[in-house]
Amino acid sequence: MTAKQNWKPATALVHGGTLRSGFGETSEAIYLTQGFVYDTAEAAEARFKGEEPGFIYSRYANPTVDMFEKRMCALEGAEDARATSSGMAAVSAALLCSLRAGDHVVAARALFGSCRWVVETLMPRYGIETTLVDGTSMQAWEEAVRPGKTKIFFLESPTNPTLEVIDIAAVAKLANATGARLVVDNVFATPLQQKPLELGAHVVVYSATKHIDGQGRCLGGVILSDKKWIDENLHDYFRHTGPSLSPFNAWTLLKGLETLPLRVRQQTESAARVAGFLACHPGIAKVIYPGRNDHPQADIIARQMKGGSTLICFEVKGGKPSAFAFSNALGITRISNNLGDAKSLITHPATTTHKNLSEEARAALGINPGTLRISIGLEDADDLIADIDQALNAG
Ligand SMILES: Cc1ncc(COP(=O)(O)O)c(C=O)c1O
Repeated sequence: MTAKQNWKPATALVHGGTLRSGFGETSEAIYLTQGFVYDTAEAAEARFKGEEPGFIYSRYANPTVDMFEKRMCALEGAEDARATSSGMAAVSAALLCSLRAGDHVVAARALFGSCRWVVETLMPRYGIETTLVDGTSMQAWEEAVRPGKTKIFFLESPTNPTLEVIDIAAVAKLANATGARLVVDNVFATPLQQKPLELGAHVVVYSATKHIDGQGRCLGGVILSDKKWIDENLHDYFRHTGPSLSPFNAWTLLKGLETLPLRVRQQTESAARVAGFLACHPGIAKVIYPGRNDHPQADIIARQMKGGSTLICFEVKGGKPSAFAFSNALGITRISNNLGDAKSLITHPATTTHKNLSEEARAALGINPGTLRISIGLEDADDLIADIDQALNAG
């Protein structure tokens, strides 16, 4: 069964891409196999030549992984996808597959720590230069372009951890005018709240580890784009470097997709309530929440996002000692650098996800000693707020 284009997201996430075997199973099958057998040597030859459809080897493609890719395409409105073993495998493959020595990349400086390592440290080793810019300044994007050399623009929005929002349509327009391709890491928005391809981006990447699994079980990622870009750039890179997703993890992620709209809706609703509570608390210096009118890019959010976020960034008064005391006093929300889980999780970015940046680089991104990032889970919002209240008062 192929994905129907006119399905609403909730339907596509339950049925999209389903590939039923002859047994007629209700739940998707896990094809936990490395290879596939051929009836004849001629059939093997034909399949390798691409003259006959069918699977060859699970590093290239696998039926369970194929279902996950097709379901993601149905949700994202993308022509094609490749699922990867982690979000970082998706980011690095999406960037590296088309780049060559001498090319130039412009990236927003507010990136997840590992993404920054890929663009700042790894790519220059292979002769690919990168310019990091303040992603909220269109002038900065324009000034960084090197005509003929800039091949990729890369950004995440909202950003990790300060939930800064970048005008994707404006950056996509500039990318088109300069002949570059825009790659968007859409993890924090989720595929439900923001559609980068509709805004003009060329490639979208996800860490499926986050909301798509949504229950803290397995790592995964996915790259989505048009079929031509995938055929010409990603296809061979993917086959021969092997960032493939395990069929078991693909199955877990398929099950995660079925409940994604319910979870993201509930988590966003609870996050808005928690953000409202934090904003009124005297122990809190600042709250950044996409969905609140006081967010610095509230106008862009209204244009490009369909809803708020499941994450909140906030700053406690009293710096690192207060941030640590508050985190340690929490009884429901657990300390963890992960996000998008059914369990609420809190992290202190300066000492965890962004510890490799210099203090100046952190300050430029608004990551201060008192900054905390909370990922709201599926617990009752009243319980979360009561727990946060007691932890703030305990400090
Ligand atoms: C914005 C962003 N991109 C990419 C990743 C990497 O994902 P993974 O941990 O699945 O490799 C993360 C992980 O936290 C992230 O927050």
